[in-house]
Amino acid sequence: MSQIPIIIDTDPGIDDFLAIMLAKSSSKLDIKAITTVCGNQTLEKTSKNALDIANLLDIEAPVSQGAQIPLDRKLNTAADVHGENGIGNICLEDSSMNFDTRYAWDVIYDEAKKQKGNLEIIAIGPLTNIAIAVLKYPELVKMIKRLTIMGGSTASGNKTEHAEFNIWVDPLAADIVFKAGFNMVMVGLDVTRKTLLSEEDIRDIKDIKSKHSDIIGSLLDEMFKRYKGLENPGVIIHDALAVAYVIDENCLDLKNCNISIETRDDVSVGKTIVNQGNKEKNVLVGVRVDFDLFKRVFESMPLYYK
Ligand code: RIB
Ligand code: CA
Repeated sequence: MSQIPIIIDTDPGIDDFLAIMLAKSSSKLDIKAITTVCGNQTLEKTSKNALDIANLLDIEAPVSQGAQIPLDRKLNTAADVHGENGIGNICLEDSSMNFDTRYAWDVIYDEAKKQKGNLEIIAIGPLTNIAIAVLKYPELVKMIKRLTIMGGSTASGNKTEHAEFNIWVDPLAADIVFKAGFNMVMVGLDVTRKTLLSEEDIRDIKDIKSKHSDIIGSLLDEMFKRYKGLENPGVIIHDALAVAYVIDENCLDLKNCNISIETRDDVSVGKTIVNQGNKEKNVLVGVRVDFDLFKRVFESMPLYYK
């Protein structure tokens, strides 16, 4: 079975870290590059994290830096969620590798040419790099087999009542990407919120012994801190669901929708708006999740790192 060549565009990020671990563990995916973007933390921190994660996981793909700031607003990070260093203040060994000298958008374009229409992008951070890539290389849209994003929500947001964080960080970039014409799948809060891992699920995952058990356990514990004390304690690994879908499409049911982005700077900025009457469908939205299948896919990850 031929592998799916992918580029992961990411802002590590605790859940990004676990999503990259999941991608590396799957025999179905071939990571061709990791491109970094500002979001959960500054570009400097998300990029260092990506380089050190690649080093830890023996990912022999280029790591290339992208956008330092959103297209038309200042950067608002999620340090309150992901910590000062961006990965829950977990310290990794410093990578001895250097970043690829090309910008993220140039790496995406070069790899798209090389993969001759088979390249898929899994974007699990703000969409700034993808927007810049489309603006610089309009022909890219037809060169990408599928763009799967973690982002958006057809219901309420998580950064504001209206907006999900990845879209909220750079609404203009999201507007450009959603209008570009990609074959696009939106793995939004509608489905990620239905993948809450309970304390028991977390214990089950932590009981799977592997050479990275400690780090996986620490990442889950870091996330759990935020949910402890809530009525329904557990963790949601948003980005991992986007990767799990590319690994096994049965994880999600999708609905063809027309989605536009609220870019006006008002209370609903960053909202992904469902336009029911619009016949121009531009994105396949995750509407139902097979939670047991997602758990099976995710729980297979530690076993790879024996
Ligand atoms: O809303 C969840 C998204 O925002 C995830 O990608 C998480 O890493 C944060 O970036
Ligand atoms: Ca992310």
